[in-house]
Amino acid sequence: MISLKTDNILPFLSQDKINAILPEIKDADSKIRQKAGLGNEFLGWLHLGSGTDKNVISSIKDVSSVVRKKKGILLCIGIGGSYLGSRAAIDFLSASGSVYFCGNNLSSDYISDILNKIEPEKEIYVNVISKSGTTIEPAISFRVIYDFMKKKYGANGLSERIICTTDRQKGALRQMAQKEGFKTFVIPDDVGGRFSVLSPVGLFPMACAGIDIARVLKGVSDMEDYIFSCDVQENIAYKYAAIRNLLYRNGKDIEILSGFHPSLHFILEWWKQLFAESEGKDGKGIFAATADFTTDLHSIGQLIQQGKRNIFETFMVVDKPSERIKIPKLDENIDGLDYIAGKDMDYVNEMAYKGTAQAHTEGGVPNMSISIPEISDYYLGQIYYFFEIAVAVSAYLLKINPFDQPGVEAYKKNMYKLLKR
Ligand code: PA5
Repeated sequence: MISLKTDNILPFLSQDKINAILPEIKDADSKIRQKAGLGNEFLGWLHLGSGTDKNVISSIKDVSSVVRKKKGILLCIGIGGSYLGSRAAIDFLSASGSVYFCGNNLSSDYISDILNKIEPEKEIYVNVISKSGTTIEPAISFRVIYDFMKKKYGANGLSERIICTTDRQKGALRQMAQKEGFKTFVIPDDVGGRFSVLSPVGLFPMACAGIDIARVLKGVSDMEDYIFSCDVQENIAYKYAAIRNLLYRNGKDIEILSGFHPSLHFILEWWKQLFAESEGKDGKGIFAATADFTTDLHSIGQLIQQGKRNIFETFMVVDKPSERIKIPKLDENIDGLDYIAGKDMDYVNEMAYKGTAQAHTEGGVPNMSISIPEISDYYLGQIYYFFEIAVAVSAYLLKINPFDQPGVEAYKKNMYKLLKR
């Protein structure tokens, strides 16, 4: 099981303070269980691990096995919650399949780089993902790629190659899929974009990349069982939510989630979107920032150690690396590293983590750590569910709706005006 260490919080928050927020946590917990809180019509993600229809899973497996058998390339088009979760999985697990992500920006260079990279003999499949079916970034990329696919395979060759993941009824993408006869996967009505990684939104690209989605879902449902069966006071996701909220009340309004493993990078990005878009509204919210350590200890590490004291941190560490590389012994100690010769690189990484946690505590930055036993599909499932439930509770502690994002419309309105839509 993933675990949460909170020792370095205690110099900043007394146990009494942590205990005192318990009634609010219990209230948030019962709002979730009874579907009685703000945005309760979007709680479908709660049971995707345990309750996803077996037919949906087998259809994901069937379609993805065609892509895998052909050693095809999947162009996965989507933005925000419609791509970050699967991208996180593929990076975290170093999955083998070729999945290229597009539609998450508006750069011609980006998309032409991808299309130019594809060897002409490769089979190409497209998964376009949009719950609304109208988001401009994926819509434009899909137009470009649709045109490219039509030229490559002809209009009649596309129905097996283009897979749309979208709303059951609404939106331009659903209409287009119906008209053109594309394969479709449905995003459940009660699951919002950033909570959709465990629906076909995330599961299909993961399966195309060769990830064992049954193991991911097992991790999710074990975490779900744990969350809803353990004592509220002991619950690690609730503890994480409680501590971040108490720190926020004490003026710590920036959280930096950092990973001591490069493969965590897109999990951090997924978390950033999940937390910032869920909590940042009504003039409230913790600024969700991320860092890759030790890399970023050589940049924002300075600011964390000695800048304005409005930051707290959560570290993500992997207990057991998949590979071990020993630092070799040389004939001569010319680089002065003999004192660590024979040790694993990851041993040094662990000491860097411990040294950082101590230095930041002493520098006035409260910090906690999430330990992941090893890099696996199963623990990835636990991570997704842990953060999803934690953000719902966190937002309820702030008395805001975690499941909407009205602020995102502001830039779109201006852009559409400038584009004379
Ligand atoms: O969490 C959300 O709702 C958003 O981040 C969406 O996932 C993102 O804006 C993409 O929306 P759509 O899937 O409708 O294209």
